[in-house]
Amino acid sequence: MTLELDRRQRAMLAEMNIQVWSPEAPSFPVPSGRVREADAPVPAPPASAGAASQAPVGRSPSAAAAAGPRPGATLQPRPSGIETMDWDSLQAAVAGCFACKLCTSRKNTVFGVGQPPAAPGDAPRVDWLVVGEAPGENEDLRGEPFVGQAGKLLDKMLQAIGQDRRRNVYIANALKCRPPGNRNPEPEELAQCEPYLRRQVELLRPRVILAMGRFAVQALLASTEPIGRLRGRVHQYQGVPLVVTYHPAYLLRSPGEKAKAWADLCLAMAAVARPG
Ligand code: URA
Repeated sequence: MTLELDRRQRAMLAEMNIQVWSPEAPSFPVPSGRVREADAPVPAPPASAGAASQAPVGRSPSAAAAAGPRPGATLQPRPSGIETMDWDSLQAAVAGCFACKLCTSRKNTVFGVGQPPAAPGDAPRVDWLVVGEAPGENEDLRGEPFVGQAGKLLDKMLQAIGQDRRRNVYIANALKCRPPGNRNPEPEELAQCEPYLRRQVELLRPRVILAMGRFAVQALLASTEPIGRLRGRVHQYQGVPLVVTYHPAYLLRSPGEKAKAWADLCLAMAAVARPG
């Protein structure tokens, strides 16, 4: 596939150390060892700030208050009626969810971030939905997805395709709460969270979904096949084209795979451009 790139996009790709026309591994320095989101802690909001300013990005103060940890909490069934909720009710339902044990350790739920809605209660209108795996430590503190090292790379990837996390894009995770110690999500946790993600997709109706990493793929495609086998073609989720790609945290550890991630972004761009 060929793609016209303007100078800005080429500059962004150069910054990501992606050589557009060559499959060779890019060569940018990455920290040695496993890159965890916890490597770049984000300061907590100042204690003196008012309640509204302490609310994590994109969430109302009341939602923030509901979301805090409940050590030893008795788990409660997920709220009913998710499939008919509007955007605000869905966000409040996530903030008040105590359906799996992650509610006992989370600091905040992480609903998502992106283009603001045109009117209260409306879902944002976006072409792109990026789905990651689960909040890490920084995301749990801030209540916003992808704010650590992987998030920085994701932002560069979005810039390379002329997008921005707050315009025409929405970013969410398969899990809305942080698994303690950044352990892998458990099947029960993914199952409990799946209806929230499903409803987010229904309300957003994006033109493409970019599923990043194996747990996003498990949640959306119910597949445990490796990413390498699923990428390179367009899948469907609820009638929305879905492209599978590597998780940015994996790309930080394996920069040689960035050329493939770029190819995946090109595939997703083509899906967005297709008349629909
Ligand atoms: N990794 C994810 O999958 N999601 C986040 O929000 C942060 C890191």
